[in-house]
Amino acid sequence: MKFFIDTANIEQIKEAQSLGILDGVTTNPSLVAKEGIVGREALLKHYVKICNIVDGDVSAEVIATDFNGMIKEAEELSALHPNIVIKVPIIKEGLKAIKYLSDMGIKTNCTLVFSPGQAILAAKAGATYLSPFIGRLDDIASDGVDLIRKIVSIYGYYGFQTEVLAASIRSTQHIIQCAEAGADVVTSPLDSILGLLKHPLTDLGLQKFLSDYNSTVGKK
Ligand code: G3P
Repeated sequence: MKFFIDTANIEQIKEAQSLGILDGVTTNPSLVAKEGIVGREALLKHYVKICNIVDGDVSAEVIATDFNGMIKEAEELSALHPNIVIKVPIIKEGLKAIKYLSDMGIKTNCTLVFSPGQAILAAKAGATYLSPFIGRLDDIASDGVDLIRKIVSIYGYYGFQTEVLAASIRSTQHIIQCAEAGADVVTSPLDSILGLLKHPLTDLGLQKFLSDYNSTVGKK
């Protein structure tokens, strides 16, 4: 199972990288906007900065919604660094772009996925990663984790190579549920990743070990 961080924030990416468990980064236009990046040139520089921190795939999303525009942007983005993965929305033009890029040997991440049908099309087109948004499904009283389960099972039947990258993670519990559902990758905010470390018995146990040591072995 791979761990990606879902942010464009350099400090958070550095912190996740320092944990030694980070396999990649996902960004989207909203996450990039949060960092106050202004202008295309600044954005491209920001992507390169991220690629220089993490030794793994870094998703950068296209803004164009037509095939030619998507390919033009994809070429610009993939020239930035070998680890750039082109994030493309699951729309008709996006599907064509994924097929084209996949034939060219360029990695893609098919995004804004909310149904098994979209997942099948993306896999048929040769997407490297598929990003179902589980939190946004939960937001509308649907079951996001169940979508992961269904897609993993469908991909398993047919041997599709596309990796299921669970996105729109809102909690530590989501990470565990996606792991149980067989997601290949989970992309999460830093807080949700750090939440995996937490257990009150760990804290209590450590406190006891330290106080026992200090009252005997460590006594001056
Ligand atoms: O990377 C896209 C996805 O993770 C978005 O998450 O929280 O905006 O639904 P969210």
